[in-house]
Amino acid sequence: MFNPDRPYNELPMLPPRDVIETEEVLRQLVKSHKALAELKGTAQTLPDQSVLINSILIQEAKDSSAIENIVTTHDELFQGLTLSRAVSPQVKEVLNYRSALWEGYDFIKNKGFLSVNSVCSIHERLGTGTPGIRKLPGTVLKNDRTGRTIYTPPNDPNAMVNLLKNLEIYFNTQQDRPDPLIKMAVAHYQFESIHPFHDGNGRTGRIINVLYLVLEKLLSSPILYMSRYIIHHKADYYRLLQEVRTKNNWTEWVLYVLKAVEETSKGTLALITSIRNLMEVTAEKMKTLGGRLYSHELLDTLFEKPYIRVGDLVAKGIATRNTASRYLNNLTFIGILKPDKIGRDILYLNKHLFILLKQQ
Ligand SMILES: Nc1ncnc2c1ncn2[C@@H]1O[C@H](COP(=O)(O)OP(=O)(O)OP(=O)(O)O)[C@@H](O)[C@H]1O
Ligand SMILES: [Mg+2]
Repeated sequence: MFNPDRPYNELPMLPPRDVIETEEVLRQLVKSHKALAELKGTAQTLPDQSVLINSILIQEAKDSSAIENIVTTHDELFQGLTLSRAVSPQVKEVLNYRSALWEGYDFIKNKGFLSVNSVCSIHERLGTGTPGIRKLPGTVLKNDRTGRTIYTPPNDPNAMVNLLKNLEIYFNTQQDRPDPLIKMAVAHYQFESIHPFHDGNGRTGRIINVLYLVLEKLLSSPILYMSRYIIHHKADYYRLLQEVRTKNNWTEWVLYVLKAVEETSKGTLALITSIRNLMEVTAEKMKTLGGRLYSHELLDTLFEKPYIRVGDLVAKGIATRNTASRYLNNLTFIGILKPDKIGRDILYLNKHLFILLKQQ
């Protein structure tokens, strides 16, 4: 018998009837919001947010791609960022993730909402397989270990479009209830269950999460990434997504996402604080060199990405080629940078920033 609530392969439209704001959920909501608000506040006090966004984003891009078992070393990845060319297909994947995220961020900043079309272009930027909504049937979600099919997402492109439109409305309608963090959990489940693309649904879904936090003004910039948390709690992630479907167990899934928000906010706050402290120490060391070497712009450039080149300073108008080269050599001399020859390029590594990011 046709059930209008479950039209497409058992996937009902939003909003779900049974998301329960239990006492445990409400308690966890308070903790998650507190941690998120602290992160937002601290990030806003930073002089140039883009410096941090870049560093944090590199980490996220790497983690998010690693869920697909793409192993990329920090060295290779950071060098790829500076050389702006993919040293390997894996690095390319990470760089794509990064530009997909920026594209999404630009979109919501300019438009104030997130449309199905922009989700499709975010996905296209990821460069995973065929772009656009799946046209051919056959996509199934399997259990990694047993290889058994656990869920068949909708296969009819029209059904997918209808479900995505429904999700778009849910996502962009701002109301007091349910709490936006609960809505983020619901929307993530729904997006992953629609599974509109051949590949890259997980990555697209994780980008949508952080964009949602910015849309809801819970963050001013895209600096909260849950990929790390998901990797560390991957079995639960898959199990709880599935239990929404099989047991209507929204509560545990919502709690999982709320805890991810709390823990990730705390971790990111700690990272920001460490980077900020390191920037202060580095500024003091730079000033000991006297002359005109120290400037805010140079300091920021040293923290935009772990490896920099003479050309980066020239491009920013910080110094001419000769002076820039002298600056970088002086910074090497006092132990801030370490030169590294990659092919015909010399890259200078911000040693302590690298250690900080690598420890993450
Ligand atoms: N039972 C399930 N119900 C809903 N969504 C699921 C289920 N199992 C897996 N998923 C989602 O599918 C994603 C994987 O899909 P896909 O391979 O298209 O994305 P990806 O970005 O390539 O991979 P990954 O998320 O592993 O990096 C998972 O991240 C998860 O969000
Ligand atoms: Mg995949």
